[in-house]
Amino acid sequence: MTDCCSPKGYKWVFSERSARAEARRYRRRGLDGTSRRIVDFLKSQGVEGRTVLEVGGGIGTVQIELLKAGAARAVSIELTPTYEDVAARLLSDAGLTDRVERKVTDFAQAASQVEGADVVIMNRVICCYPDMPRLAGAAADRARQLLVLSYPTGAWWMRAGLGISNLLLWLLRREFHIFVHPPEEIIATTKRRGLEPILDQRGPVWTVAALRRSA
Ligand SMILES: C[S@@+](CC[C@H](N)C(=O)[O-])C[C@H]1O[C@@H](n2cnc3c(N)ncnc32)[C@H](O)[C@@H]1O
Repeated sequence: MTDCCSPKGYKWVFSERSARAEARRYRRRGLDGTSRRIVDFLKSQGVEGRTVLEVGGGIGTVQIELLKAGAARAVSIELTPTYEDVAARLLSDAGLTDRVERKVTDFAQAASQVEGADVVIMNRVICCYPDMPRLAGAAADRARQLLVLSYPTGAWWMRAGLGISNLLLWLLRREFHIFVHPPEEIIATTKRRGLEPILDQRGPVWTVAALRRSA
């Protein structure tokens, strides 16, 4: 990790409190729009019996929905420890504890110790990490069939908004930064790892992209 961000910074942004708030929202209203787009796309591809690796999956709601839809097992690799208690409770309530393995580590650093999966997901994660090629490349390498990503669309007004957020984070000495890595560079990085784009679905804020491993 570079000077921009520290474990303390991540824990401040992705806190236990925000984990509890997200869980309350999920229990009341289900998945948010971007996560729903990812789950719907994967269901359209068929998730029955597939293994899932989610990097930076937070409280793990996408994994829960995919397991309910028939995925075989899921592994969660999450950088911050703050989500673990809430995630464990959601899994237990859904009766899915035995089908998910959760690890707290920096995936970009530890990827060589993580087994590949049929489907790899990184939902709103690339924008929270400075070294995009390392993170996106490692995720692509672990995807046996499909890689699904979401990242900021890169529209000018979004860049401007995130620029202001970064200024505030810097002024408050929060040791955290939001990145708008160029979408074309993200896709080029994953294509170099043998994946072919099959979805580029722009929303108002987040683009959902999917790539398939070439035969
Ligand atoms: C904006 S949150 C998104 C959480 C969830 N995927 C969602 O969309 O609601 C970004 C998450 O990515 C995690 N993260 C960032 N870089 C990571 C890395 N290198 N390895 C594992 N997790 C990472 C952060 O800890 C955080 O939980």
